[in-house]
Formats: sequence, structure tokens, C-alpha cells
Amino acid sequence: MNNFRFWSPTEFVFGKNTVGNVGQLVKQYGGTKVLIHYGGQSAVKSGLLAQVESSLQNEFIEYVKLGGAQPNPVDTLVYEGIDLCRKENVNFVLAVGGGSVIDSAKAIAAGALYAGDFWNFFEGTVTINRALPVATVLTIPAAGSEGSPNMVITKTTAGKLKRGTGSPLLRPVFSIMDPVLTFTLPANQTAYGIADMMAHVMERYFTQTRGVEVTDRMCEAVLLAVVKEAPVVIREPENYEARANIMWAGTVAHNGICGVGREEDWATHGLEHELSALYGVAHGAGLAVMFPAWMKYVYTSGVDRFVQFAIRVWGIEDTGDKKEVALKGIQALKDFFSSLGLPVNFAQLGAKAADIDQLIDTLKINSRGSLGNFRKLDMKDARAIYTIAAE
Ligand code: NZQ
Ligand code: ZN
Repeated sequence: MNNFRFWSPTEFVFGKNTVGNVGQLVKQYGGTKVLIHYGGQSAVKSGLLAQVESSLQNEFIEYVKLGGAQPNPVDTLVYEGIDLCRKENVNFVLAVGGGSVIDSAKAIAAGALYAGDFWNFFEGTVTINRALPVATVLTIPAAGSEGSPNMVITKTTAGKLKRGTGSPLLRPVFSIMDPVLTFTLPANQTAYGIADMMAHVMERYFTQTRGVEVTDRMCEAVLLAVVKEAPVVIREPENYEARANIMWAGTVAHNGICGVGREEDWATHGLEHELSALYGVAHGAGLAVMFPAWMKYVYTSGVDRFVQFAIRVWGIEDTGDKKEVALKGIQALKDFFSSLGLPVNFAQLGAKAADIDQLIDTLKINSRGSLGNFRKLDMKDARAIYTIAAE
């Protein structure tokens, strides 16, 4: 096990009827002038936004609103949010929505206290050393941004560059998580979220670090719970217990606890971000296509770990033929994604093999030519993995 530091200061306020606490919580964490940031229409239609506003009003907290964060959030709205925060002297950013809204809120929170262009954070030329406090009311379990220090934004000018960065300062101070808010999620969004949270665990699970039994078992527990509850939430969208388990799984999958003491991989996220940047597809949909393809390409670099995954997570019989067992585990994951209605190849995603050159061009810039740790990949490897996904 490697040395590690783990710091996850977010206060999670979880359960039914927790949204009404938002005003008190903002006050507790020092917010007096709030930017409420939200997405398209879901939070307005469900009445959630009105509920949040009324809770802030009850505490006499002033606020301004900025909606319109789109899935795969873009830089243009971040600039707008930064201007608004400065003009209105905002001192607290409250995201009401999913990963896209939260990430956009984080970029606004960091950008508002930085005199230069916030995109410099994503270029890696400037470190985030100040940010307004961010909090969330989560409406979709998926990205895990409600507990993570990361954000992912797409730059719309000069080609579409989708990039991630982060800072411990961007971990939300609190996140309100009411599983009832997720009842309105359509089956496809629910499934995209499930693929993303499983991917967050697997990016950490597939490691060459030895002696990480505790985190291995935690990763496996989260995956097993998701595999059990996922079909239930698809079949019964208003099943509270299943929604609650999926919601919490999405957070623990990505707040860092499943990665402590080990080297993490993240090649598949790098490969996927090019797909969601180019085609505007949901991040979870792209991951469902790319993860099995990545696995098929790299499993021989650490077959024992793939055997463990197959046996412990998917209950594959240990025949002693490591290659066969590993491949059965990969197939089980792919079949599971299919059973949730997720795409598992380029055609189902709406991606084209003919675009692989273009994907590689931007991947080369964003990854600076190399990806992953389980097996270090270059652009030739990345091309081979996209080709497997296109088959
Ligand atoms: O915009 P509205 O109308 O709210 O609709 C959203 C959106 O269309 C809808 N939705 C959300 N809650 C709903 C709902 N519809 C009905 N009922 C509800 N309760 O769902 C759609 C997708 O929302 P989005 O926020 O885009 O989903 P997600 O949470 O999957 O976020 C995806 C983004 O997060 C990034 C991804 O790359 C992508 O840009 N990621 C962020 C990470 C992080 N910050 O740590 C890590 C992840 O790996 C990921 O890369
Ligand atoms: Zn993800």
C-alpha cells in the first residue's frame, strides 16, 4: 500500500425532506449573498428551485440565479457566472443539479476570485489557491462531483476541448442528497449515472499497487451494491431504498475513499472525454462503450487483477484458466451495461470509426500524449482501443 493523505471535508446531508435545510446550512457556512446555479429545466419543473429559494428567504439570505448549465458544461456560461458573482458581490455558490451544474459552479467559484482567465486552471499554468465556497443540492447520482475536488469543463472556442482539473478548495462544503429528487430521472439518465459511478470505482480498482486489500474490498462492495440495485431503479424509478443506495454509491465511488493507498488509472476517462466533447453524448454512455474496450486491450498487463474482478464482482467460476476467467469478467460487465440499455459500441453510441483520427488529435493535446497507469498508453494504444470500441 502506498502512503496517502485523504481529506474529504464535505458535510453530506442525506435523506428525505433534507432540502429545507439549505438556508440554514448556507448560513452556517458563511454565505450571505448566494449564486444559485442550475441546469436546463428539471429543477424548475420539479419545484426544487422554488423550494431552495424559499429556504434561503426564510434565513434572509440574498441570492441571484443563473440557469442554463448544459450536460458537458461549457466555458461561456462560466464566464457569465464569474461576471455575475463580481457584479453582485456573491460570496457563496450553490449548485442545484447534477455533475454538469456542480462543475460549472466550481469553475465559477474559482474564477470569481482570480483576476486572469479561468481557463488557465485547465491549461495547468495556474494553481487554484482561492475559491468561493461551493455547496450542492444533488439531483442525479453519477459524476460524484458533490464530494469530489474535480471539475470538467468544455472550451467551445478553438475546437472543443473537454478538460478536467481540481483543487481541494473545490470540495463542496455541504451536499444535500435527497433520493426522492432522483425519482424523476428517466431510465437513460439513471443508467448513464450508474455507468459513471462504476467507472469511477474501476479507474481506481485496476491498479498495479500491491497490498491494497481494504480498498479492493471497498471497491468490490460498491460495485456489488450497484449491480444489485441498478436493475431495481430502472424497473421501479420510485423505489426509495434502491435510489438511496445508488445515490450514496455515486458519492463514495468518487470522493476518493475507494482510491486511497494505490495508483489510479483514469485512461478510460481520458478516452471518453473526447467522445462527449465531439458528439455531445452523455459521459456515462461514452464510458459504457470505452471501459470494456480498454479492459480487453490491457488485461494481459495484470491478468490476476482481472481474474479477481471476474470472480469477486461477477461470480465467474475459477477454472484456473486466467485468460478465460478474465475475459468472462469483461464480458459480464459489457452484458450488464447492455441490460441497463447502455450503448456498448461506437454504433450504439452514434460514434464513427472514421472519426478516430479526429479523436486522437484532440486526445493528444489534452493528454499530452500519454494516458493511464495500469498500463501506460500512447496514442497508438489509444487508437487501438477506439478501434476495439468501434467493432
Ligand atoms: O439540465 P437539467 O434540465 O437539470 O437536466 C439534466 C441533464 O439533462 C438531467 N437531470 C438532472 N437531474 C434530474 C434530471 N432530469 C430529471 N430529474 C432529475 N432529478 O440529467 C441530465 C444530465 O445531467 P448532468 O449534470 O449532465 O449529469 P452528470 O451528473 O452525469 O454530469 C456529467 C458531467 O460531469 C462530468 C462529466 O464529464 C460531465 O461533463 N464529470 C465530473 C466529474 C467531477 N466533477 O468529479 C467526474 C466525472 O468523471 C465526470 O467527468
Ligand atoms: Zn466519470
